[in-house]
Amino acid sequence: MKKILILISKATVLILLLSLSSCYYDEEVVIPEVEPDPGVVVSFANEIQPIFTRECAFCHPVAGPPDLTEGNSYEDIINVDIVPFDLDASVLYQTLITTDPNELMPPGGALSNEDINLVKSWIEQGALDN
Ligand code: HEC
Repeated sequence: MKKILILISKATVLILLLSLSSCYYDEEVVIPEVEPDPGVVVSFANEIQPIFTRECAFCHPVAGPPDLTEGNSYEDIINVDIVPFDLDASVLYQTLITTDPNELMPPGGALSNEDINLVKSWIEQGALDN
């Protein structure tokens, strides 16, 4: 009888440890600040869409909005997830720089500084369909 009790308490400890270890997903993601280069005009077609195609379009729209596939993305995000000249109001941009791992896009790992920088500059230049 005693043996069974010890076994049960061991199992309880094990379950507790396992459930605790799942908390590591809540750790903050630290993304270095990026400074845009105001002198360079960013092209949506040549610089932004390739990022979406490479990093996002295999999930969007299949996993949910926005639609980030080539030919559909601009119409889908402009003035919705992307607000020209307004980084704070641009939900898509906020998902790239958030420190909350549950909100971060792409999930599990941030874009490179260079890519984030391009999206930032593009919005600050008016998020043109250029
Ligand atoms: C592995 C699949 C996957 C990839 C890759 C991915 N996303 Fe997402 N994204 C999701 C899912 C799932 C949701 C919905 C999350 C929710 O509703 O809680 C989402 C939500 C979003 C939202 C809506 C957020 C909001 O609060 O309304 C935006 C904007 C977004 N993603 C942008 C992007 C961008 C930009 C990329 C590429 C840099 C990207 N995603 C890559 C799966 C993905």
